Amino acid sequence: MRFVVTAGPTREPIDPVRYLSNRSSGKMGYAIAEAAAEAGHNVLLISGPVNLAAPKSLELISALSSDEMYDVVHRHLDGTDVVVMCAAVADYKPATVSAHKIKKQDQALSLELIPTRDILASLGKEDRQFLLVGFAAETNDLEKNARQKLQQKNCDIIVANDVSTITSGMETDENEVTILLRDGEIKKIARAPRA
Ligand code: CTP
Repeated sequence: MRFVVTAGPTREPIDPVRYLSNRSSGKMGYAIAEAAAEAGHNVLLISGPVNLAAPKSLELISALSSDEMYDVVHRHLDGTDVVVMCAAVADYKPATVSAHKIKKQDQALSLELIPTRDILASLGKEDRQFLLVGFAAETNDLEKNARQKLQQKNCDIIVANDVSTITSGMETDENEVTILLRDGEIKKIARAPRA
């Protein structure tokens, strides 16, 4: 089968030297991509900026910003059987990107942020030919919020991750997740190393 897996954060540029991003390490997406490749699948890993070695035996394409990741994902859907949207895509980006480095001033600085395009939601079309797996990073009401995301983004599966503690969630080496299926089934996966 052909897998497309996204991983890591995105960077939303503010000016030539600054950006908005988040704490995603990319470990989860890389582990999923490597596991799928080891199981004999054809895997394309689309990765935001991370400090991880490129896994062997799979194709890797880098995407820095949410717009770049949106375009790369959409360009590689042909013949894909499973899309796993593990990337922590930024929800907002600066309304304008300054062409020059923004100079320091004495007064407060406000940045206007606008929503990014939701890649997962854009893939949740009724006539799609692939299984769509989304992730939900939640600090509260994990199952309720994840179920809502599954419905709103029209996924087949949502993997819900509690990011409220320091022992699971972002930047940790181990993780535990709750998997919600479209038909209402729920599977809890106990704590395990990511790779
Ligand atoms: N996602 C995406 N494009 C975005 C934002 C999120 O494809 N612009 C995807 C992520 O890859 C993940 C899922 O949407 O699979 C859920 O991301 P999450 O951050 O948990 O939820 P949000 O939709 O951003 O909602 P909120 O931040 O309000 O919880």
